[in-house]
This record gives sequence, C-alpha cells and structure tokens, in this order.
Amino acid sequence: MAPVAMACLPAWTYNNDELTELEMEQIFLRNWVFVGHVSDIPNSGDYLCFGMANERAVIVRDREGQVRAFHNICRHRASRVVAEEKGHCGNSFICPFHGWSYNLDGTLENIPKAASFPEIDKQQFGLKAGSLKAENERMQAQAKVFAVG
Ligand code: FES
Repeated sequence: MAPVAMACLPAWTYNNDELTELEMEQIFLRNWVFVGHVSDIPNSGDYLCFGMANERAVIVRDREGQVRAFHNICRHRASRVVAEEKGHCGNSFICPFHGWSYNLDGTLENIPKAASFPEIDKQQFGLKAGSLKAENERMQAQAKVFAVG
C-alpha cells in the first residue's frame, strides 16, 4: 500500500508574525469566538476574562442573571479592572489601581475621594460594553468590538 501524503502546513507558518497578524485581521477579528459556557459563570458576580489580539474583556453574570461583556479596562486610567482569569467579584468590580468600582451592569458605582476630581457625570464613565451572544449555551464574543478606538 502506498503511503498517504500528509497535507500539513509548512513549519514557517507556526511562528510567523506577519501570518499571525493576517490571521487575526482576516479571521479572528471578523468572527465570533468561543469564550466559554454559560455554566462557567452560574451565579451573580461570577466572571471570566477573555483576551485576543491585544483586546481584553470581562464577561460577568449580573444581578438579574443576564450575562454581559465589557472591556476589561478601567475608565479612569485604563488599568485592568479584573486581573484574574476567572472568579467571583460579589456585587461589583473594584479597580485595583485607584478603587473606582463598577456595578455588574457596567455602570460606574463609586469613585473614592470623588471630591478631588472635577465634577464627573457617572453616566458617562461606565465600563464599555462589548458584543456577546449565547447559542446553545456557548458564549461567543466578537473580539473586534473590543477594539479601543
Ligand atoms: S485606573 Fe482604575 S481606578 Fe484608576
């Protein structure tokens, strides 16, 4: 019996920055990407993080049981609001840098030492929402919507 020819990619494709960038641009940033299963975050305050192509998001179950996705970027000085890959944050996210806190629906909850800031319209400084869909309980995010413009 003749050997079967293996169709595989050439070795250079596994470690090529230009090809990786092209794949990100043409494939991954244009399509929904599986990020987890809804059962990964069963309770209010449970979250998981998602990162791809220099974008980072946090996906959380809110107090009403809805699953939401946000940029994992604090609106104050752009720190990561959540550092761990997965966990439980209680009723809010608290940024580790200066302590701004966000409700599970992404709204800005509290600014420590608020008097030291100029007057801030809290409505304008919630976490930026991203796109998330659940099909058959598989959560998928669209990474391109997390691109910070
Ligand atoms: S960067 Fe988040 S509170 Fe300052």
